[in-house]
Amino acid sequence: MLNEIIECVRPARSLVVLTGAGVSAESGIPTFRDALTGLWANFRAEELATPEAFARNPEMVARWYDERRARCATCVPNPGHHALATLERHFVDTGRDFVLLTQNVDRLHQRAGSQRVIELHGTLWVWRCIDCGREREERVVPFASHPPRCECGGLRRPGVVWFGEMLPADALEQAYTALAGCDVFLSLGTSAIVEPAASFVYLARDRGATTIEINLQSTPISGVVDHSLSGKTGELLPQIVEQLVMKI
Ligand code: OAD
Repeated sequence: MLNEIIECVRPARSLVVLTGAGVSAESGIPTFRDALTGLWANFRAEELATPEAFARNPEMVARWYDERRARCATCVPNPGHHALATLERHFVDTGRDFVLLTQNVDRLHQRAGSQRVIELHGTLWVWRCIDCGREREERVVPFASHPPRCECGGLRRPGVVWFGEMLPADALEQAYTALAGCDVFLSLGTSAIVEPAASFVYLARDRGATTIEINLQSTPISGVVDHSLSGKTGELLPQIVEQLVMKI
């Protein structure tokens, strides 16, 4: 199966990669839905990842996101992140299109060197004032108070997409444009449950793209894609990319 995937990706003219929390798992960042270890196994998403939760208890929500941000600060990109950055460089150097759509908010892809990254769900590293809308990247962890305050006096929230909120319009537009033109679509480390990302595979397939999934467990798209491989992205991606980049 690994060789089949390699030979599908090798001739691609336009590669779109979608990543989820599974790609960051080997960096020590919890996923959401893995039983026992996932964030949603230990916390109620409705109490933390919604505008209503922030309105109800801004201190608790801000503290929880700041703790996740502080944890990200101690984590480093894993071999899966580095493999994707190498793959991007290989595609760019050979005059082909490459776009990395990520649902992750940790910015480990960027820390590994990926540049063509579209953050579908925002990032923990940017916080936004709910009054004046001012956004700023915050690298110092943790905040002195929760929630942090804006110069205007307003409360600042994490720059991530909460349940019930729309995705950033520009990110979504770029994603749909990339999907419209891709000939290979790779879904990596995502449970393929949360929309609209969960439907990207259908958009790619309906345009004739070859669709591939690498995930630890089977997902709702495992029976939809052309190739579904079970395993850890931190182990499999370096093997795939090495064959693609080294062997011409
Ligand atoms: P999930 O936690 O739903 O799914 C992560 C997937 O990665 C699971 O299917 C795991 O089996 C798999 N996995 C775990 N470790 C892996 C590894 N080392 N290699 C490969 N696969 C591995 O996370 P997402 O699919 O990213 O949205 O969740 C999508 C969205 O739901 C998140 O962006 C977040 C969440 O609510 C918002 O918060 C808006």
